[in-house]
Amino acid sequence: MRVQAQTKILGVFGHPVSHSLSPIIQNAAIEALGIDYVYVAFHVMPEDLAKAVDGVRSMNFAGVNLTIPHKERVIDFLDEISENARRIGSVNTIVNKDGYLVGESTDGVGFLRSAEAAWGKLGGGRAVILGAGGSAKAIAFALGDAGFEVIIANRTLERAEELAENLNDDFGKGRAGSVGMCKDALGADIARADLLVNTTSVGMKPDLDGIPLPPEMIHAGLRVYDIVYDPRETRLVREAKSRGARALNGLGMLIHQGAMSLEMWTGQKAPVDVMEKALREL
Ligand code: ATR
Repeated sequence: MRVQAQTKILGVFGHPVSHSLSPIIQNAAIEALGIDYVYVAFHVMPEDLAKAVDGVRSMNFAGVNLTIPHKERVIDFLDEISENARRIGSVNTIVNKDGYLVGESTDGVGFLRSAEAAWGKLGGGRAVILGAGGSAKAIAFALGDAGFEVIIANRTLERAEELAENLNDDFGKGRAGSVGMCKDALGADIARADLLVNTTSVGMKPDLDGIPLPPEMIHAGLRVYDIVYDPRETRLVREAKSRGARALNGLGMLIHQGAMSLEMWTGQKAPVDVMEKALREL
């Protein structure tokens, strides 16, 4: 890739950002497509976010991704946000349309596409989501769109209740429920579920022995999706496989949300296989 005067700038704003894998996958895709872009990671402190977003306009970046901790706060600094970003209250992608900044979220659809790439079309059913933070929200709405009934299970029950209420407001009563991490109630919900998604940080490095629920709850009919990808195989994924369940880590979501962002910026279909290969070869 040759960076020259006309090269269009893409990037990610985060704090921290030095471990981001987005530059690897995006630049691999850019190179494979033979387009004149470069994707750079920018360390942006929370108090500097407004100035950094102004920089997207003033320096005419083609677009940026947002990661922790900017996804919610950035909304105040944009000209428009999509309906999807509005309902989840989070933006991970800014598209610069001649200085007019539009915010979108590709997290939820990235999750869904990656699950369907691995497992085939998901025709709905019952899903239990562990966690009630930003990732849980994006995934819950995407699963709602895909026809799932969604149960939010969270350590802090009030946050689960609030998210379930938002989902019911959007999809109609009875489509979502909430549960704490209490063994009996959660166990009963998981026994009836087709899909289990972990959005908590339990099991993420350095918490290698951590598992977000008692492993006995996992049954062979369950599809398990852990959005954690460091380590590549969490204890949850290991326990799921050993019980005959199908299980995925979070690399697919990372790749597909990035692929969708790249498509929004360039109008070209992103080479998902190239992006996957770039990560495998790290
Ligand atoms: P993100 O935006 O990445 O989803 P977040 O908003 O910080 O992150 O949410 C983290 C989620 O992981 C929360 O649901 C949190 O539970 P609480 O709402 O009770 O805080 C959950 N979580 C984090 N550490 C946890 C732990 N050790 N055990 C159980 N849940 C945990």
